[in-house]
Amino acid sequence: MADAAVDTVASVPVAVIGAGPAGLMLAHLLGRAGVETIVVDTRTRREIETTQRAGILEADAARDLVETGVSDRILRDGCEHEGVELRFGGRPHHIDFKQLVGASVWLYPQTDVFIDLADALDRDGGAVHFGVKDTEVLGVTTDAPRVRYTAPDGSRHEIRARYVVGADGSRSMCRDLVPEDRRVRYGKEYPFAWFGILAEAPMSAPELVYAHSEHGFALISQRTETVQRMYFQCSPEESVDAWPDNRIWETLQARVAGQDGFRLKEGPVLEKTVLRFRSFVQEPMRWGSMTLAGDAAHTVPPTGARGLNLALHDVKVLADVLLKALGGAGEAALDEYQPRALQRVWRAQNFSYWMTQLLHTAPGSTPFDLRRQLGELDNVVGTRAGRTYLAEQYTGWPTRPH
Ligand code: DHB
Repeated sequence: MADAAVDTVASVPVAVIGAGPAGLMLAHLLGRAGVETIVVDTRTRREIETTQRAGILEADAARDLVETGVSDRILRDGCEHEGVELRFGGRPHHIDFKQLVGASVWLYPQTDVFIDLADALDRDGGAVHFGVKDTEVLGVTTDAPRVRYTAPDGSRHEIRARYVVGADGSRSMCRDLVPEDRRVRYGKEYPFAWFGILAEAPMSAPELVYAHSEHGFALISQRTETVQRMYFQCSPEESVDAWPDNRIWETLQARVAGQDGFRLKEGPVLEKTVLRFRSFVQEPMRWGSMTLAGDAAHTVPPTGARGLNLALHDVKVLADVLLKALGGAGEAALDEYQPRALQRVWRAQNFSYWMTQLLHTAPGSTPFDLRRQLGELDNVVGTRAGRTYLAEQYTGWPTRPH
């Protein structure tokens, strides 16, 4: 296959595998600096646009989207959140990010980040090919790597590049190009998953609600005035077919119930998905001329919404080192990438793991486990150090002063 004839050959400095937020933001940042890219993705644009993902952006990431000229739609359609609510023991506890650490986050769905990026690349003449097949990445240990793919019309194409970036998500094929004896994979599986819904209903609360209960975890998030996003902890083997709307609402109501009489506003469930998750990191994040970015290199559990933010941080660093490498510093400039990206990756791994174990009920957990969790939650909300820790981790670790 590798030497089979192709219909077209294109040469660009950087080829990008994966047109999610990481791949597209990288292409956007490089394009602004005058470096051409070609991005390919096996999914269609519509598939990516309609897959529900997380909704929280760190303030720095939101600012980067605006300041680098992707779009300022986030300022109109997004919603700045200055805190979150932790519910446990049937009571609400407000964590005020602004007051504690002077920071906030933006509720702006990942699908909108994707749409803004795809539109910006269209506007600026970027090359993004969706719905491709048979992607092959060749020669990553040489200084002339190539990417081959089949377009939706069946034609075969080759991209000749100086660098290849694997931004191909949690089922990355690029990361498998690092030989087994030269890579380390760190990971952790969890004995639960999230049941995610989109529902047509008014907002139930002004902020996100992260709820711990003896029945398990629930998260109440938002999308618009009339569409809400909610999740509850379930078994990884759960099937959406076993969940009619009334069972979903009963489960969610039981998990947020409390002395304050809090009730969710219900409505028709528009979409249901079981989201399996794990913690994962592969090192190294670079192999020869190839670097990995975003979920391809690391995935986190969704609790705390770090995944998209980490991916955007990766490509910010990556754009910087690629520009240095292409600007004359050569491949050695890429050595900076992993250490600069990985510090945040492991901080986020810890935070996502910590927040997951703080709020979920593991199967077979004992009354001791439950009481201990309540003790930990009380330490989080009841001490200034605890509240500040959560606020600082949740809002990200600023690369610029607030
Ligand atoms: C959302 C998802 C998360 O995982 C999270 O921690 C917060 C919000 C969301 O989809 O809105």
